[in-house]
Amino acid sequence: MREPLRPIEWTGNAVRVIDQTELPGRLVRMSLESVEQLVDAIQRLAVRGAPQLGAVGALGVVIAMDQCAREGWSPAELDAAIAHIRAARPTAVNLAWGVDRVSPLISSGRQAVLAAALDIVEQDERINRAIGRHGADWVQARVPGRVRVLTHCNTGALATTAWGTALGVIRELHARGALEVVFVDETRPLLQGARLTAWELVQDGIPHYVQADGAAASTILRGLVDVAIIGADRIAANGDTANKIGSVGVALACADAGIPFIVAAPESTVDVRTASGADIEIEMRDGAEVLTWGGVRVAPEGTRAHNPAFDVTPARLITALVTEEGVLEVSAGQVPGDRLSSGVR
Ligand code: MRU
Repeated sequence: MREPLRPIEWTGNAVRVIDQTELPGRLVRMSLESVEQLVDAIQRLAVRGAPQLGAVGALGVVIAMDQCAREGWSPAELDAAIAHIRAARPTAVNLAWGVDRVSPLISSGRQAVLAAALDIVEQDERINRAIGRHGADWVQARVPGRVRVLTHCNTGALATTAWGTALGVIRELHARGALEVVFVDETRPLLQGARLTAWELVQDGIPHYVQADGAAASTILRGLVDVAIIGADRIAANGDTANKIGSVGVALACADAGIPFIVAAPESTVDVRTASGADIEIEMRDGAEVLTWGGVRVAPEGTRAHNPAFDVTPARLITALVTEEGVLEVSAGQVPGDRLSSGVR
């Protein structure tokens, strides 16, 4: 397997990212050196995925401080710029987490903020590799032989800073010789599965199929899958989990088929201040993403789109939550909020 992809670099005055809208056709890196460029990249999903948004959000505070110094902003203008980054997308809690983690250091100066932001970037790979090991251990203890996995959206290096969360578990299973194949949901409407996950799996020589999202339930009910593993954008205290639209359908099919549905995410995606999924804001995106195909309108004029970017899977449908700390068996009653109040985190 080749050296893992690292999509986030700090150049000294800019964050250099892969423009994910260009994949799989072209691997293009771009530098973000102003708040406007950063927020635009986040909103059009050039950078994306909850842990990656956390890292970029933290580095965004440094970019805002630099721009403040360059352009002579007032303290209130700096606060507004940081709030603008924090709110660029509402569902993935990691974006606000990354911004909030480094912002209290502003009074200590640029170096302190930068060091904390770079620490988030560096720690993310260690966290993802731990998630991969815990998840693979849990799966191998329950599924004999080589495992057939279904995944949804992109949770790999492209969604993090290296390795990946759900895709990290899949990579770890592959590295152990314990993976048979991955069914990759294409992930309408922006095709993070078909464009990004498949691209990462091709790079690593991991056997996979891309399937239409509408095929997922049938693939599961026909017995072609042993376990579904997905990522998360926000996990409420009761275990309810927001992830890419289409995730809850996968969970329902897994429950009916009696196979495990696993959420793999860093602790930074757990938001114990959010009591349940009903309290999670779901990002609504431009209807053009659904009504057009390759830039060409496919639905008739006069048709409106319903385009939520995420859904919420209730805790009762989540067999296990894998974080860097270990595994919680959520549907059996082990929820993140209880762990916090018992002092484990
Ligand atoms: O809209 P996106 O592409 O940012 O959505 C990403 C997802 O839903 C991922 O599954 C989630 O952020 C976890 S990434 C490790």
